[in-house]
Amino acid sequence: MKVAIVGATGLVGSEMLKVLAERNFPVTELIPVASERSKGKEIEFKGKKYKVVTPNEAIELKPQVALFSAGGSTSTEYAPKFAEAGITVIDNSSAWRMDPTKKLVVPEVNAEVLTVGDKIIANPNCSTIQMVVVLKPLHEKYKIKRVVVSTYQSVTGTGVKAVQQLNDERAGKEGEKAYPYQIDLNVIPQIDVFQENGYTKEEMKMIKETNKIMGDDSIRVTATTVRIPVIGGHSEAVNIAFEQDFDLQEVRELLANQSGVIVVDDPTNLKYPMPKDAHGKDEVFVGRIRRDESQDKTLNLWVVADNLRKGAATNAVQIAEYLVKKQLI
Ligand code: A2P
Repeated sequence: MKVAIVGATGLVGSEMLKVLAERNFPVTELIPVASERSKGKEIEFKGKKYKVVTPNEAIELKPQVALFSAGGSTSTEYAPKFAEAGITVIDNSSAWRMDPTKKLVVPEVNAEVLTVGDKIIANPNCSTIQMVVVLKPLHEKYKIKRVVVSTYQSVTGTGVKAVQQLNDERAGKEGEKAYPYQIDLNVIPQIDVFQENGYTKEEMKMIKETNKIMGDDSIRVTATTVRIPVIGGHSEAVNIAFEQDFDLQEVRELLANQSGVIVVDDPTNLKYPMPKDAHGKDEVFVGRIRRDESQDKTLNLWVVADNLRKGAATNAVQIAEYLVKKQLI
């Protein structure tokens, strides 16, 4: 299969290359795509070198599938052009996620919504992906009424510039700033821009995307999303109120049996998920599983995943794998 990676020089794009190689996705030819600035640059994939092309050149090369992670404006402009040329687009930006004509997919949760007609498929927000993978089996069993989530998000979610800012600050160097404030030795309670209701766009994404992926608008969600000086992945404290009561041991089993989830929950031996351990892994890790003793039928969880992997690249590649398996491309 001819595969284009749009944004191949970026953080998520390079992770996509790694994931495609590791999972042995059937790539016969790779087309790395980036901006005019990177044209001609060489990208290595499975021991072979490929030259970076622009989006328009990539369309001419007619890949069957294109994984996009080059920002919202690139997706808005080029995804329809790729789709028009018969190329299936899996888009990691937020450009198409809430478009009612586009599917928003986490394969473990709602892969079955995909059909052969879907030419632009949206990959959800990183914080949302790792949360819904965990919510899914619990919702099926106990029906979720409400979710309260607070996030602790890695700088890798912002891109190359943010990782550079953190490294510069640690080294005591001046440099370009991805954030309005210092991030090293700090916590910034703002991810993406503020909306009129006082929430940030990231918080609103977690709310709306959760409802869309779970296919259930009755689940009420509220979120506070926070940037922390961490590289390995995103962490989330998730409080879930159910319609029905649950048994903690059964909750552990449901989570352990959920595809893509690994339970790390052994407080006696100080075992719980941490971004340092999730870094480079494809799974979502869940621990600190306990009852909320302040309210009936309510659960507390701690959920960690590498946001560049399951939160972005891995999820996009899994969508592509599903399309191949079901012969939808
Ligand atoms: P380039 O390296 O040429 O700027 P990150 O999110 O890690 O900063 O990466 C963004 C990615 O999106 C990069 O690969 C970047 O390429 C790519 N990109 C940005 N603007 C465009 C554009 N107009 N067309 C194609 N790719 C783009």
